[in-house]
Amino acid sequence: MQATNTAAALNDLVGALAVNASKPFEQALAMPPGVYSSQEFLGFEEAAVFQKEWLCVGRAETIPEAGDYVTFDILDEPLVVIRGNDGEVRAFSNICLHRMSRLLEGRGNAKRIVCPYHAWTYGLGGELMGAPHMDKSECFNKRDYQLPTARAQVWQGWIYVTLNMDAPDLDQHLAQLGEQVTNRYAMENYVELFREEHVWNTNWKILAENFMESYHLFRLHAATVGPHSNIDEMECPPGGDAFNYHWITKESSLAIGNAHPDNAHLEGDWRKTTALICAYPGHLITLTPGYFWYLCLQPRGVGQVHIIYGGGFAPEYVNDPDADQMAQDLKTLLDEVNEEDRIGVENVYRGTRGKLARNGHLSHLERPNFEFGQYLARKIAHV
Ligand code: FES
Ligand SMILES: [Fe+2]
Repeated sequence: MQATNTAAALNDLVGALAVNASKPFEQALAMPPGVYSSQEFLGFEEAAVFQKEWLCVGRAETIPEAGDYVTFDILDEPLVVIRGNDGEVRAFSNICLHRMSRLLEGRGNAKRIVCPYHAWTYGLGGELMGAPHMDKSECFNKRDYQLPTARAQVWQGWIYVTLNMDAPDLDQHLAQLGEQVTNRYAMENYVELFREEHVWNTNWKILAENFMESYHLFRLHAATVGPHSNIDEMECPPGGDAFNYHWITKESSLAIGNAHPDNAHLEGDWRKTTALICAYPGHLITLTPGYFWYLCLQPRGVGQVHIIYGGGFAPEYVNDPDADQMAQDLKTLLDEVNEEDRIGVENVYRGTRGKLARNGHLSHLERPNFEFGQYLARKIAHV
């Protein structure tokens, strides 16, 4: 009986998501509370979204040399993204083929991948090169061992990986995002200055949606960036199947938010226009003419989100004499804003768990949130 009730509740939830997604934007509601708090719904997301989609790992310029690597788990699947001797970025299973120890941790450089347990040793192409004390094991042949691969591709400086061998190529998948939003910024030349990992106590979608709208700036960020924000300077045009975005079209209150005098490719108002992007499911980028910052999100259960948080400069600012001070000031501000967001999104998560929780109508400033709901409905309710 319990199982039947759960299945019916899940059906209702998916149905409500689909109904909302089919409305005109002007009539749409926020997503129903259960999508943020249901264990069963998370199971759908894991299978239909995180096991299937391209997921961002971070910036390619942070692993420039052969053997530079970064570890990245897709849900419970440990992967390592590593640059080969041929300069290609590849993704391998980060699980030893002997007795399944994790191989590498964090980030670094490894000319060989040596298992910390019994020292089986792999090359940068995932091939087993050596295994100590295995010469008396009759059936063992190191040539039979090759670390399984995931797919890794680089788009405009971002490394993405997927477990889905049938996913379209990343260039094709994100072509519209490039044409509509990012190409003009030459994002591939931006340079990362910091990268951290965190876990917050909220559902992953609440943090994603928080990033998709600048409606909350004047209130939640009243102590930091709020006073500089003006609703009339925010535009929310329609996005595409793989992304949503909005623009902030004003002069930035931070000097580095505007194009550097040496920036010769941005013209007119583009020199002061910031794009706020979500490449689905959870790669969130604030892209200004002078700097960028980003989050890469994955669920760790219903009520926790794993966050990669990074940022850096457009190339013209990297060589500016004041670059160090500007980088420090930017990081201080972003940390303060992020902390305000953490409090905000953890608050929302607690709200979504209430039996009396209801989802209200969206503002005209929340079109990206509406489109995010449509994206989830396409993936989960197949509408
Ligand atoms: S588990 Fe890796 S060498 Fe034994
Ligand atoms: Fe915010």
